[in-house]
Amino acid sequence: MEDLLKAVADILRSSKNAVALTGAGISAESGIPTFRGKDGLWKKYRAEDLATPFAFQRNPKLVWEWYVWRMNIISKAKPNPAHIALAEMEKEGIIKAVITQNVDGLHFRAGSKNVIELHGNIWRIRCVNCNWKTVLSSPPTQIPPICEKCGGFMRPDVVWFYESLPREALNKAFKFAAQSDIMLIIGTSGVVQPAASLPLITKDHGGILVEINVADTPLTPVCHYSLKGKAGEILPRIYEYLKGKFE
Ligand code: OAD
Ligand code: ZN
Repeated sequence: MEDLLKAVADILRSSKNAVALTGAGISAESGIPTFRGKDGLWKKYRAEDLATPFAFQRNPKLVWEWYVWRMNIISKAKPNPAHIALAEMEKEGIIKAVITQNVDGLHFRAGSKNVIELHGNIWRIRCVNCNWKTVLSSPPTQIPPICEKCGGFMRPDVVWFYESLPREALNKAFKFAAQSDIMLIIGTSGVVQPAASLPLITKDHGGILVEINVADTPLTPVCHYSLKGKAGEILPRIYEYLKGKFE
């Protein structure tokens, strides 16, 4: 393992366009539940009831109750050593962008600047009627929240099943993926499109793929390096190897 960590640190050090692609697994050690796996949210809840535009139409209050529950967990959570190591690597000029499927905002809170949020952000809400947007600092007390402009229902500005991804974020992600000479794929099950195809774009353009995950995923066989373990333990060690050479 130490040899692998050193090898990845060496590639990162000589890279020009390192990017990270993150999923729910990077926030697991912050106490935020993931979606798949034995304790995953999709084991306990049906996405069709909670995370589709139809579910919101049918029962906006139920959908909001679930989001308020998640907002409460997220507001108590803190960035963990994995988020922090990525932010440090960005400060050092190594990581150029963090492409995330997470809506928890923990990358920003850890200090990452160039974060591309593919699935939106749980704290931003928008009106289903007039599209007015606002950012919350705590979970709403009245649900559904009401639009200040038109009186319509507000919804979380996140991507639900059957919805397309925000165009600007997606374009940026594809651009970074194509230019990237090394992509760190951290804590994602690699099954949700189009995020899961970003590593393939990097590989097609000659970039190196490094997976950091506690388990194998459909992406494992296409990765050049597979670092098996917790993101909060592996990323700080890679960063230590990187720093060792900087000092
Ligand atoms: P998943 O819940 O599908 O996958 C989490 C991954 O993290 C799994 O591969 C785990 O093995 C891994 N993992 C868990 N703990 C870890 C740790 N401490 N360190 C490293 N890896 C760990 O989450 P995503 O891949 O992010 O979409 O899911 C993708 C999308 O599916 C989500 O953004 C969400 C969901 O439906 C929407 O809501 C649109
Ligand atoms: Zn409105």
